[in-house]
Amino acid sequence: MPSPQKLKDLEVSCREHFTRIFETPPILSASAPGRVNLIGEHVDYQDGLVAPLAIDRHVVASAAPLQEKKALIWSSTSNQPPVVVDLNPNHPLKAPDAWANYIFGVIACYRAAGHDTGGLAIAIDSNLPSGAGLSSSAALESATALIVEEFSGNHLPAKERAQLCRKAEHQYAGVPCGIMDQMAVNCGLKDHALVIDCRTLEITPFTLPAELSMVVVDTKVKHSLADGEYAKRKNDCVKAAEILGTQMLRDTDIEQLKQKQNQLGNRLYRRAHHVVSEITRVKDFTAAMKSGNPKLAGSLMNASHASLRDDFEVSCPELNTLVEMAEKLEAIGSRMMGGGFGGSTINLVHSAKVNEFTDQLVKKCREEHGWTPEAFVVSAVDAATLSEFS
Ligand code: GLA
Repeated sequence: MPSPQKLKDLEVSCREHFTRIFETPPILSASAPGRVNLIGEHVDYQDGLVAPLAIDRHVVASAAPLQEKKALIWSSTSNQPPVVVDLNPNHPLKAPDAWANYIFGVIACYRAAGHDTGGLAIAIDSNLPSGAGLSSSAALESATALIVEEFSGNHLPAKERAQLCRKAEHQYAGVPCGIMDQMAVNCGLKDHALVIDCRTLEITPFTLPAELSMVVVDTKVKHSLADGEYAKRKNDCVKAAEILGTQMLRDTDIEQLKQKQNQLGNRLYRRAHHVVSEITRVKDFTAAMKSGNPKLAGSLMNASHASLRDDFEVSCPELNTLVEMAEKLEAIGSRMMGGGFGGSTINLVHSAKVNEFTDQLVKKCREEHGWTPEAFVVSAVDAATLSEFS
């Protein structure tokens, strides 16, 4: 299992990249973690409950202000010359590269909210894989947001920052995501998972027992369906809620679903069934964790996977294979995570068996299925932060 670059080293390397690319040192840097979600999938945009945590993999942004009203953006991932966008009010604020719109989107949304940055140069570095379902987009947005706040002199509370970042993702990256990822990245707490009520944004942290480890297993695939299908699932939920006479599926229950089963039809019934049952599973999962019953919590993770696979239809063969293999290797719980159609699974494993679990899973997958996933242990860390260079 290769260990990721440590956050301190990542900050140093980002600072060095900045100095080399822009021929001047940065004055500050922001680091934003990725997230995993233990349970509560595809419910955030129906006002549901989710249980994510910020993880020890980060996106780092180093920055300095510029005289000219331009944004110059460079990323170690693309390693191309900096993308340049004119920030003068008369110019349309849209970046030529898709990835850069995550950054410009944040700058633009802060400007629209009255927080102007002036010109700035930003260099991005990361040890958080993108496309793995670990919220590298929300991390990129949040690191940018912290820099924009510092340069504009307006500091927002973490939850407001999360909302602004989500707006940027909707408007500039064109992804109609919920609020879970941005909340986890901006409100993460070391050694804790968070139950987030996506209606009120109230957060209830809880700890995981030390004898349990969290293992991410990245399929390293992303099926082309991923983006369009997310919006379709969201629309299905809206239609189902309409038929059920409610704004959000959070406000209904399985009994009401059964009563309207005929009107809903097979597909919408199953979509709504996933959302309603998943919200209950989040409550049961946290209760099981609090009462020291990880076995029950693990079985709820597996039930969540089955529901996402069969009712919500957002899994894929590679994710299903990993979950089945994890069950055979005696994971306490295993499920797909994030939007679906690729990305990663999250697994709860006894800490004493974690090396054996990851080694066996990767080896067996290669031998029995002919492809090689990447498995790594993650731990819960604090939210995105800013550090100024002296
Ligand atoms: C993506 C979105 C989140 C959430 C998950 C599914 O990660 O960004 O808002 O909807 O999918 O739970």
